[in-house]
Order: sequence, then C-alpha cells, then structure tokens
Amino acid sequence: MRLRSAVNLADVREAARRRLPRPVFDMIDGGADDELTLARNEAAFREIRLRPRVLADVSAVDPAVELFGRRVSLPVLLAPTGGGRIAHRRAELAVAAAAAAQDTVYVQSTVTGYPLEEVSRAGGGGLWYQLYLPSTREETRTALDRVAAAGYRVLVLTVDTPVFGGRERDRRNGFGLPVRPTPGMLLHGASRPAWAVEFLRGNLPTRRDGRLSAWATQRQILASPRPVTWADLAFVRGLWDGPLVVKGVLRSEEVPRLLDSGADGVVVSNHGGRQLDGVQATVEALPAVVDAVAGRVPVLLDGGVRRGTDVLKALALGATAVLVGRPYLYGLAAGGQAGVEHVLELLRAELLRAMALTGSRTPGDVDRGLLLLPGG
Ligand SMILES: Cc1cc2nc3c(=O)[nH]c(=O)nc-3n(C[C@H](O)[C@H](O)[C@H](O)COP(=O)(O)O)c2cc1C
Repeated sequence: MRLRSAVNLADVREAARRRLPRPVFDMIDGGADDELTLARNEAAFREIRLRPRVLADVSAVDPAVELFGRRVSLPVLLAPTGGGRIAHRRAELAVAAAAAAQDTVYVQSTVTGYPLEEVSRAGGGGLWYQLYLPSTREETRTALDRVAAAGYRVLVLTVDTPVFGGRERDRRNGFGLPVRPTPGMLLHGASRPAWAVEFLRGNLPTRRDGRLSAWATQRQILASPRPVTWADLAFVRGLWDGPLVVKGVLRSEEVPRLLDSGADGVVVSNHGGRQLDGVQATVEALPAVVDAVAGRVPVLLDGGVRRGTDVLKALALGATAVLVGRPYLYGLAAGGQAGVEHVLELLRAELLRAMALTGSRTPGDVDRGLLLLPGG
C-alpha cells in the first residue's frame, strides 16, 4: 500500500505498517492493557446511525469553525503526540507545516524531537501547546514563559497521565524512548531499510544542533509523568494569559469545577485508549459533557475518529471540533508532511460529502436530530 493510492485512513495505516519496524508501528498503534478502550473508541462511532435531511441546498458546503477567535478551515485538529521523530525525521516540523498548509491547528506536545521555537516557526506561529507539568513551579513558570515567547496561542493542559498506562505491546517488544540500538531493534530496523536509513540520517548524534539534547529531554519527561491537581490547574491558570484548554475530561460532574477554575475549553479524551483501559469511548462521554458545559466554552473530542462521518457525528453531539492522533502519525510515517496533508485531505473530502449528504451547509446545521443513537 503506497500513500498516494491510500483512499481512506485505514489504507494510510497500512502504508505506515509497511514502512515502520514492528516495535515503532506498535508504539503508535497500540493502547493500554487489553486495548478495550482503543477498540471501543472506534466501535462507538460505528454504532451511531445517521438520519439525513433531504431537499436542502447543499451546493456550497463550508466546514470551517471558529476557535478562540480564529477561523479554522476544518473542524479536525492535530492532537499532541510525543515521539514522532521515530516515525519520520522531520517529525513535529512536518506536522506543523502540514497543519498550516491545510489551515488547521496543530497542538505541539511537550514531548518533542525539536525545540518548540522551531516547531512554532515551521507552523507559521499561532499553534497550540500541550503541557505536561514540569516537577517544580519555578520550572513551570519558565516553561510557560518560553511557550508564550515562541508565539503559541492556546495552552492545552493534559490531566489524564498521573502515571503512564500499561502499554503491553511496548513491553513485549522491549521498546522504549529514546530508541536504543539493541540487537532486536537492529533486526527490526533491517527489515525496514527505507525507515532505517532515514532514522539514522535524522538521529545521528551531533553536537552542533542539539539533537541529542532533544532526546535527553524526552527521556526525562517520559521517565516522570506526574499528577496534575486542581491546585496545579489554578496555578497554571494564573500564569497563562491566553486560552486554557483541559484535555482528558470524561466526567460531566467535573465540568462545573473546571469552568470555575478558568478552563476556556475542554477536550473529551481518554488519551486514545493509552491510559486507563476499560473506560468508556469518548463519543459516549461527549453528550453529558456537552450538556454540562451548556455552550459556555468549546468542547472538543479525540479518540477513534477515522472517518468524515465520525467528525459529523461528534459535531452533531455538540463538539466544536475533533482532534486526531494516530491517523496523522500514520501519514507522517508513510510520507512526511505530504502524508499528514493527505490524511487531512481525506478527512476534509469525507466530511464535505457527509455534510452534503445530510443536508448540512455549515457545522451550525449539524445537530443531534441527524443521529440515531444506540438504544434509540
Ligand atoms: C504515539 C502517541 C503519542 C501521544 N503523545 C501524547 C502527548 O505527548 N500528550 C498528550 O496530551 N497526548 C498524547 N497522545 C494522545 C493524543 O493526543 C490523543 O488523545 C489520541 O491520540 C487520540 O486518539 P486517536 O489516536 O484515536 O485519534 C499520544 C497519542 C499517541 C498515539
């Protein structure tokens, strides 16, 4: 499967599977424990049926939405993901450039293969930044000053990783970041020579451009996930002037306190099924969160979005936009920036078609009446 002949996201995943050594593919593709939540995220979308509206004039369909004062041409954002540099040499730089070219938003992760200033430049500024809390308040202050100085507009605080989930594929593969040249890894690398050559070109230690230090930082962060408390949220709110979004919310009961604490948006997320296995699918959690938020701030969703109809379903349930994680990493692995853009183009084409076929000219026309939920 080549990227250019990939007609949907499943094809792009297959292209990535063929390009990447098994442990690298599994690191991206896998979830926690039995991967129940990973599977459930996608299955729950498939169980929702559509009730199309007919006789609407859909000669001009526009999926653009507004988020924190910026028009985004597509309600599909690129979720923060760490470790992209093992999938492709240009990693975050390629993803940021793809998001800019497709006029959507990239959320740059704390876990990164390139300095956040470089990623910001590659994306033309105005990106969002996802924060994993450093260990001290002083470091948090310094980190946020740096994020703001680099031109990031929106801060996303991820709150669902007090400890890491049990990624059993990684343990079975003996895989960890940064990638070490173990005999097993060399063997896997040899089975994917195109990837291996790229990886070596992109990651050979050089003192000049600080590539090694990027990996060292990554290792540090990966070694120390830590709980984020309500007090931390208040502290971060006090430091960050721009919009603050909390990522990893599933319980509607927590919404009032989140909004009182100054959250300007929430992401309904279970970390793509990589943290606590057995939690509900995000699209199942979405309606109650939307009801609790009651239109006061944008609600976003990620997890299991693989089709334009999935985007439509999330919008119909009240999400302002969705994010995708793995799909664009598959695209990145298979074709760098062009691969990420291909994924966004496929989702854009599918969403436009789904909107036209449900009589929806804009996301404002997409409402719960278009859906038949499981159980009626
Ligand atoms: C390889 C990988 C790395 C990730 N790294 C991060 C991260 O650094 N920070 C974060 O908030 N979420 C991270 N996530 C979670 C994503 O932001 C997102 O919640 C998830 O991928 C959405 O599900 P999807 O992959 O089904 O689209 C990661 C996900 C993957 C697959």
